[in-house]
Amino acid sequence: MFPEKAILYAEENSGRFLQELKELVAIPSVSSDSNHLGDMKVCADFVEGAISSIGFDRVQMVETKKHPIVYGEWLGAPGATTVLLYGHYDVQPVDPLELWETPPFEASERDGRLYGRGTVDDKGQFYLHLKAMESWMRSAGSLPVNMKVIIEGEEEVGSESLEPFLDENREMLAADVAVISDTSMIKKGWPSITYGLRGIAYFQIGLKGPSQDLHSGIFGGAVKNPIHALIEIIGQLKDKNGRIAIPGVYDDVVELTSEERRVMAELPFEEELFLDEVGAPKLSWEDGYTPLESLWCRPALDVNGIWGGFSGEGSKTVIPSEAHAKVSIRLVPNQEPDIVGNLLETYVQEIVPPEVEVTIQRMHGGRPFLGDLSNPAFSAAGRALEKGFGAKAVYIREGGSIPFVRNMTETLDLPCLLLGFGLPGENAHAPNEWIDLENYALGTQSAIHLYHELSLM
Ligand code: BES
Ligand code: MN
Ligand code: MN
Repeated sequence: MFPEKAILYAEENSGRFLQELKELVAIPSVSSDSNHLGDMKVCADFVEGAISSIGFDRVQMVETKKHPIVYGEWLGAPGATTVLLYGHYDVQPVDPLELWETPPFEASERDGRLYGRGTVDDKGQFYLHLKAMESWMRSAGSLPVNMKVIIEGEEEVGSESLEPFLDENREMLAADVAVISDTSMIKKGWPSITYGLRGIAYFQIGLKGPSQDLHSGIFGGAVKNPIHALIEIIGQLKDKNGRIAIPGVYDDVVELTSEERRVMAELPFEEELFLDEVGAPKLSWEDGYTPLESLWCRPALDVNGIWGGFSGEGSKTVIPSEAHAKVSIRLVPNQEPDIVGNLLETYVQEIVPPEVEVTIQRMHGGRPFLGDLSNPAFSAAGRALEKGFGAKAVYIREGGSIPFVRNMTETLDLPCLLLGFGLPGENAHAPNEWIDLENYALGTQSAIHLYHELSLM
């Protein structure tokens, strides 16, 4: 079986492939918002329909505590490689809505891009695989590999339902290689294979001082303000050079090899462009590392939100009873979310001012991932991307997290190919998210080549 006819089919049907993606993007599948519970179901139904229409043997809607998982399989190539495709149909919230140039759930084309929430993260990226499978089926009557597909609805909220699903279905999900398109290319025209992702440990810190809000004139000066206590704590989480100050946090961090650093230094990272994308007056990264090394291979602590006291119009003289913050740490090999959680907890307990009580809530976590580049799946992916994009593929790491990757690769003992078709500036999780339309088409063609290349493995 050769991919030429499937490629031709994809080219001839590219208009419809785009139209269908627009319909998928129009479903507001925000997994974190209970107002969108119904939309999650509508979206899962859409995905189920899309998989069924390829002609899969089996398509299943798996109910979970939160949002359904859509599972499908086609096992018509006995003896051939089995591919496990993973993607997510849930998207991030859209606020601040007023900053969108066109409505987030009205996919709209401008300047060779498709704008809308979820276009690149991850609807466009998993959907192009479904269209690649369709192209094989309609042109050749079959796929060159066996295919198992998991499209979940909780990736953006920590993928909690996937773990039991994975544990209970190890045999059903057994495969030779996992494929995920939920990452980015380093630069347009530079097809990229991501072999490393950071993990994450997420916390909510709460401080309680006085039993209720107090008049700051009557009490100010003799009562510790919880917001101030919180700021003192947060101020001690990092040092002036941006290094995390939690004792022991770097103990398990694997240092970069000189070979890795050399390869990374050759990648087309343009600081000016990056700064432009960020829009801040200046960048800051860890001493002794390059920006890319800091982003991809070093832990990073961030305060994601902070609240407490009065922030309404005008002024109110008050000492608040409580203060809160959301704090997350991006993890790198071999850090573990639970160990880092213990370290943070111990440290915060130690430095918390005695006038307040602290509670630390552990939210979702995910372990970092590092692939073994010597696995033949990587060279197969390299050949497929080169055919799809007409340019040699590069190997990169990225700073984001896909918690399921580590669970999946360890539980099922398989390599994982992260083949992303996003681009720098794509605005994932931000207003005006977009996918490059050329990448959507060439990504589809690359996926067609990929299944072929993996069948030869
Ligand atoms: N697709 C991203 C992960 C990603 C982003 C990988 C950029 C590589 C580069 C994914 O949808 C995501 O946003 N993940 C969350 C995970 C979290 C909610 C547990 C993240 O990284 O914040
Ligand atoms: Mn994603
Ligand atoms: Mn995301």
